[in-house]
Amino acid sequence: MKPKILVTRKISDGAEEKLKKEFDVNLNLQDEPIPTDDLIKMGNDYDGLITSGFDKVGEEFFSNLNGKLKIIAHVGVGYDNISIKAAEVKKIKVTNTPNVLNEAVAETTILLILAASRRAGEAYNLVRSDNWKNQKPDLTKFMIGNSVTGKTLGIIGMGRIGRIVAQSAKAFGMKIIYYNRNKLSEDLEDGAKYYSDLNSMLPECDFVSIHTPATPDTKNILNASTIGLLPNHAVVINTSRGSTIDDNALIDALENKKIYGAGLDVFNNEPNLDNRYTKLDNCFVLPHIGSATHETRLAMSMMAVDNIYCFFNNKPLISEVV
Ligand code: DGY
Repeated sequence: MKPKILVTRKISDGAEEKLKKEFDVNLNLQDEPIPTDDLIKMGNDYDGLITSGFDKVGEEFFSNLNGKLKIIAHVGVGYDNISIKAAEVKKIKVTNTPNVLNEAVAETTILLILAASRRAGEAYNLVRSDNWKNQKPDLTKFMIGNSVTGKTLGIIGMGRIGRIVAQSAKAFGMKIIYYNRNKLSEDLEDGAKYYSDLNSMLPECDFVSIHTPATPDTKNILNASTIGLLPNHAVVINTSRGSTIDDNALIDALENKKIYGAGLDVFNNEPNLDNRYTKLDNCFVLPHIGSATHETRLAMSMMAVDNIYCFFNNKPLISEVV
């Protein structure tokens, strides 16, 4: 009998085709979200699951399992929606999709840097609302933003994505500084200056961009006290996870012009973000599209399918979390 696999959301066509050839598959072709309570009930009907960041696979899900489910192949590099400790206790393998999305997330980061500093959201809304013609074309005031070229970008978390962001930012002549748990080798640093202490780096940042996973250590890494160390022309960028930022602190800094702006792709409580963000002209917001390119989503879907394939064919997993 072929192993039974549940795919909780629509994944890329090519990956679904590949999966269908090898397994007894329940695809979600209509892409209807599976309510958490239903997912908990369904967990015992399958040998493997392919999940997305929209699924809540918490302790309750695992405590209800009876031994049939063996692997969860998550489509995403971040897996903070899955209770990894509970998976370990139940001896269920969890895999993710690292690396294949590095460039796409770095592209989104650069997009946010440019959009937030050049007021792209405000400018776009002005044209779309047909209000451009009502503006006084003032040479020193009309939609004037801040240049990116030559500025200092502080990167919090100089992993694979952080390093690609650094490389791309250098094309704008940006100077790169970074805060990381460990200093990188000179080769990986590629000219970036290391700070072992976040508080010492922040006053030097024209832009600060977060590239850490969501962990208890990184929760609210930008909070009232750390944001308070940024210069008031600074721009905060986040393509990692919403939990790294204390919303009240960032919104206060944006509302009271303690910093220049923010560009955010990720939020606490997505998609129900704190709607004060959407009312701020100096905050450019995106709906968590960091890895949303055809090429990247196909590669992520394929990697999840390949992990399932490897597991049931007794081959080493491509990207094992636990
Ligand atoms: C991830 O894979 O964790 C990304 O945030 C998805 O866009």
